[in-house]
Amino acid sequence: MKDPNNRRILITVIMGSVRPGSYTSKAVALVANEIELHDDIAFEVVDPATLKLLPPGITGDETDAKKLRASVSKATGVIFATPEYHGSFSSITKLVIENLGFPSVLSGKPVTLLGVAAGQIGAIKSLEALSSVCAHVGAIVLPGPVSVPRVREVFDSQGRCLDSVVEKRIRSVATNLIDYIRGNICPRLTLEAMVRAGTA
Ligand SMILES: Cc1cc2nc3c(=O)[nH]c(=O)nc-3n(C[C@H](O)[C@H](O)[C@H](O)COP(=O)(O)O)c2cc1C
Repeated sequence: MKDPNNRRILITVIMGSVRPGSYTSKAVALVANEIELHDDIAFEVVDPATLKLLPPGITGDETDAKKLRASVSKATGVIFATPEYHGSFSSITKLVIENLGFPSVLSGKPVTLLGVAAGQIGAIKSLEALSSVCAHVGAIVLPGPVSVPRVREVFDSQGRCLDSVVEKRIRSVATNLIDYIRGNICPRLTLEAMVRAGTA
């Protein structure tokens, strides 16, 4: 199924760092590469650095917020990748979530989480906080969030992952979501299509 128009599954990946050359983007590149291995899946990486997102209550140009909401609305599943900043997920990730509406278009979407941190404890605290916020807005947060500690030692300057075990764990953020979608959402969509067509 090489035609992109035939790709039934769409995954939106939300980048949680706007820092040029961020380690989050290096990890996201691996996640994107893993998704690309699946011919029937399309994906979009949302880079908030390219969007003008406003805090709630500030009126202004809503064009990019609408684009963001459209990407998440049509997604079958969503991946959040965030750095750990001051013991939590990044403020830009929160701004993205706040721009997803109230009620949120994340509601009902399966979500997997990836956190990277410079420290040896990893991104545990940011993943717990992000999981809580995603669940609060109604997302289906899948078990198995991936935390990458000492991330600056894991990638080289070219973005190559130097640790095959860590690379496998980062890629699992994609495969975990894909397995959930294939096992739970695709059968439901197929059944609905059959019911509509009168063949079920
Ligand atoms: C404002 C700020 C706060 C940070 N707080 C933490 C922290 O609490 N724990 C930690 O392990 N690393 C912390 N770091 C380091 C980041 O985890 C590190 O920059 C890492 O490269 C991931 O961020 P990046 O994707 O932007 O590169 C912090 C960095 C910044 C800029």
